[in-house]
Formats: sequence, structure tokens, C-alpha cells
Amino acid sequence: MWRPILPPGLMTDGMIKIMREHGVRIFAVLAGVMLFCTTAVADGDAGAGKGKSVVCASCHGVTGESVMPDYPVLAGQHQDYLEHALKAYRSGERRNPIMAAFAATLNDDDIADLAAFYATQKGLFTLHR
Ligand code: HEC
Repeated sequence: MWRPILPPGLMTDGMIKIMREHGVRIFAVLAGVMLFCTTAVADGDAGAGKGKSVVCASCHGVTGESVMPDYPVLAGQHQDYLEHALKAYRSGERRNPIMAAFAATLNDDDIADLAAFYATQKGLFTLHR
């Protein structure tokens, strides 16, 4: 018989009933959402990103390892985080006059390529995956 993963004390009887009746379907929906999330990040070409990063190097360093405290280190940062940050500057969701001006010049492919480039650089802290 199918059993809920959470201890029953954390779930209401109604939740348990719904999960017993629809457990497989809920699992299928969650699996679908996870698949969507992993494919939502554009691939990005790190080689192309390197060429496009020339304009960024004066502040973020040639490899994204900025040595100036005012400018964040991009090297080794997660690719999807970098993409998210650049899109947020471009949309105005994240406000910074300097980065807004640079992000405004980037299309989605540029952003994916730049994010791929910086994500493959060695940062100050690199996760061992
Ligand atoms: C004139 C200096 C300058 C240039 C050139 C520049 N940046 Fe930035 N960048 C900054 C500053 C300052 C910040 C921090 C802004 C803030 O507080 O949000 C930043 C933040 C960022 C962030 C967010 C980092 C984080 O940890 O959240 C990304 C990503 C980024 N820049 C990418 C780029 C890219 C890609 C380019 C080239 C297209 C570029 N920057 C060009 C100064 C610059």
C-alpha cells in the first residue's frame, strides 16, 4: 500500500487522503516540474562568452575573478544564478545603474554565453561536484 513520505503527524487527514488517492499523479506532476526546471536553463557557449566578456573584464577581471572589492567575483558562480542576475538587471527587477546599462546591450544568447563562460572559470570558492 502507498504510504506518505512525511510523518502522518505533519499532514492533515485530508492531505493524506489526497495523496493516497492521487499519489502517483502528484509524483508525475512533480517529476514533470523538475524536468522543466532542469531544461529551462539555456545551454550557453563558454567559448563565445569569453569573447563577449571583454567589455566586462575592466570591472570583473579577465577570468571573472575581480580583485576590487566593489566588483563581485563572477568566476565559478552557478550558471543559472548569473543568467538570473543579468536578466534581472536588464528587466529593472534588480537595480544598479552600472549593470543596467551593460545588461541592456545583451540578448538572451549573450547572457547564456557569458554565464557559461564565468561558470566554468575557477572562482575564489569552487564547489566540488
Ligand atoms: C564599470 C564596471 C562594470 C562592468 C564593465 C560590468 N560590471 Fe557587472 N557589476 C558591476 C557592479 C558594481 C556590480 C554589483 C552591482 C549590484 O550591487 O547589484 C556588478 C554585478 C554583476 C553581476 C551580479 C553578480 C552577483 O553576484 O549577483 C553579474 C552577473 C555581472 N555584474 C555581470 C557582468 C557582465 C556579464 C558584464 C559585461 C557584459 C559586466 N558585469 C560588466 C560592475 C560592472
